[in-house]
Amino acid sequence: MNNELHSLRVNSDRMRAAFDELAQIGATGDGGINRPTFNEAHLAARAWFREQIENSGLEFSTDGAGNHSAVLSFDQPKTLLLGSHLDSVPAGGRFDGALGVMAAFEVLKTIRDAGLKLKFNLEAMDFTDEEGTLVGMIGSGALAGRLHRDLLQNPRGGRQALVEGMKRAGLTEEDILRVARPQESLAGYLEVHIEQGKRLERAGIDIGIVSAIVGIWSYRLSFIGRADHAGTTTMEDRRDASLGSSAFTLAAREIVMNDFPNCVANVGHMEFAPGAFNIVPARVDVRLEFRSPDEEEFKQLDAALLERARQEARRFGLELEVEFLGKHSPALMSDQVQSLFGESCHALGLSHMSLISGAGHDGQSFDGLFPVGMIFVPSKDGASHSAREFTEWTDCVNGANVLLQTTLKLAM
Ligand code: HGY
Ligand code: MN
Ligand code: MN
Repeated sequence: MNNELHSLRVNSDRMRAAFDELAQIGATGDGGINRPTFNEAHLAARAWFREQIENSGLEFSTDGAGNHSAVLSFDQPKTLLLGSHLDSVPAGGRFDGALGVMAAFEVLKTIRDAGLKLKFNLEAMDFTDEEGTLVGMIGSGALAGRLHRDLLQNPRGGRQALVEGMKRAGLTEEDILRVARPQESLAGYLEVHIEQGKRLERAGIDIGIVSAIVGIWSYRLSFIGRADHAGTTTMEDRRDASLGSSAFTLAAREIVMNDFPNCVANVGHMEFAPGAFNIVPARVDVRLEFRSPDEEEFKQLDAALLERARQEARRFGLELEVEFLGKHSPALMSDQVQSLFGESCHALGLSHMSLISGAGHDGQSFDGLFPVGMIFVPSKDGASHSAREFTEWTDCVNGANVLLQTTLKLAM
């Protein structure tokens, strides 16, 4: 690449204006946003993105899975995907996903403004349901041809929520399942994302180059006892579902911390039924997910957690129902892309370090199909999935410039 291209930078003010405008959509007033897949704010954010694309002179594209994207075509046979996601977790932060989509959008505009001709078309993606409010990585999984019908039949967010969400977004299952693109039409996928952890901040490093993304397995565990009068039933006589579910939750933490130090487990939701002050809980549904960077380790952790769930159910005289709700496998990032990210950081005078991602990301949907690469920018106090989420704007621009320079290295 010539010096002129090496010195090309994104337009920070233009990117900031777009980012700040987007952050107002679904804003929760405390710096966070609330844009779970296909809620009103999420649909408004997508409509806003479409308008931004059309006003920018880039081509707007969408598909049967609801993925939204800006396209900069050079009439090439292959497309290099950049991007991230505009959906958020409930009461989430304004940087998770949104930064990656705005950075990708800005990279396309910068390259278009520079009048460059690339050997790949470029597409700035907003993938559907990255956060798994409904299923998990619907958009990237469908585009990769890896979203199976059974995942839509029994999704981790519940079938009803998915059906209602698809209706609001004007999508059908058949359309979603027809979205796969021919593998030979795609040149790769690059994403910039906030780290959502403390490693970069603690190390004083500008950019994290992701080497691998953890896998995520999800379950619904139902501890089933018997509803009884909370006042007249002796403690000995109770078959109290809250005891088995609570004991399991504490035990899951113990198992992971003692025996699986590279993994994490999370009980993010418990639903009590009937759910009244004066009724001994008859049933508690536990939403469990656990993560590992290693496929083999997953099997051992899976066995250990389910065995303990059965033990705790027996201990309190409860039945246990186990419902597997899908998995995303761990993914290794492309060595070639990692080294190009490193070259870009060096040329930009940015320090960098290699990191494994403890968060899931759309890039893992494409593992093995084409080169995938990801970079992180520092998160203040490692906060994410909360209104406390924050990244300095200079770090956001650094990430966008590394994305720009690496795109040019791949596509010129
Ligand atoms: O949950 C995650 O790891 C990501 O934020 N979707
Ligand atoms: Mn994300
Ligand atoms: Mn997230």
